[in-house]
Amino acid sequence: MATLDFNDRMLSLGLARVSEAAAIASATLIGRGDEKAADQAAVNAMREQLNKLDIAGVVVIGEGERDEAPMLFIGEEVGSGNGPGVDIALDPLEGTTLTAKDMPNALTVIAMGPRGSMLHAPDVYMDKLAIGPGFKPGVVTMDMSPSERVSTLAAAKGCSTEDITVCVLERPRHEDMIAELRSTGAAIRLITDGDVAGVMHCAEAATTGIDMYMGSGGAPEGVLAAAALKCMGGQMFGKLLFRNDDERGRATKAGITNFDRVYTRDDMVTSDVIFAATGVTDGSLLAGIKREPGFLTTETVLMRSKTGSVRRMTYRNPV
Ligand code: FBP
Repeated sequence: MATLDFNDRMLSLGLARVSEAAAIASATLIGRGDEKAADQAAVNAMREQLNKLDIAGVVVIGEGERDEAPMLFIGEEVGSGNGPGVDIALDPLEGTTLTAKDMPNALTVIAMGPRGSMLHAPDVYMDKLAIGPGFKPGVVTMDMSPSERVSTLAAAKGCSTEDITVCVLERPRHEDMIAELRSTGAAIRLITDGDVAGVMHCAEAATTGIDMYMGSGGAPEGVLAAAALKCMGGQMFGKLLFRNDDERGRATKAGITNFDRVYTRDDMVTSDVIFAATGVTDGSLLAGIKREPGFLTTETVLMRSKTGSVRRMTYRNPV
């Protein structure tokens, strides 16, 4: 049988439907204090829509390993089976707590590429660093200290360190890094969750006001963010962080041999992909779901790395 090509252009609209469906399913759970119910609703809807697509898909970044996640687990086959072989990275609800608390920037996220296009990142932490497009390669690196990153980025931008804003997840583990960043005079946008959106903010610095993202968060979210930046432009680096042998074992199972490797954006996402995200709660990149009598409205960003096209779509869904 001839191998079917990954037709990113045709598949992209279907992908938008998948992220829209997950967002719509979580709409009634925004602000209800129940993370699990919101996540489950998004997972069910995402899986149902994904299975309508004519693809032979395999989940490479999903809800967890087979024994922990009943649906959309890593290795689950999705799609009708009649179509090209594709890898899928997804987070049906990125920001479950943000959704439960009705806080900004909760998204549904999905990326798709040909088989073998995305790093099979285990569910461990990843140290992340990202900036937007327009800078020469390696202007900031993982080897630099947080303050060096701020000063070299400011020099490259032709501005003062005080004009740089860095986005960081507010966690006790980041206290020293935050203190060092403050010593440079840079502003810090602290987020309580949602570092896929955190990284994506860098690609639209003029709109979001964020120049750089740094700090550790989930490795699966790191691969999703790399897929987004591959479409939007920008640089990203990630290094897996291991706290114990169980985590090293997960990495080995995922095929990772070099535990110290610094992955670039294009190491994490090695060929052209498509990416869709739909706003659940209002954020600086996407409007959240609006509920009005008779219908729901969503906003989705749909992107193709091959062309660099970024399409924003609003969808009115009768209910
Ligand atoms: P969930 O949507 O699964 O709750 O993840 C939210 C998130 O904030 C991610 O964006 C981030 O990568 C990760 O959690 C950070 O993990 P931790 O809360 O353990 O610091």
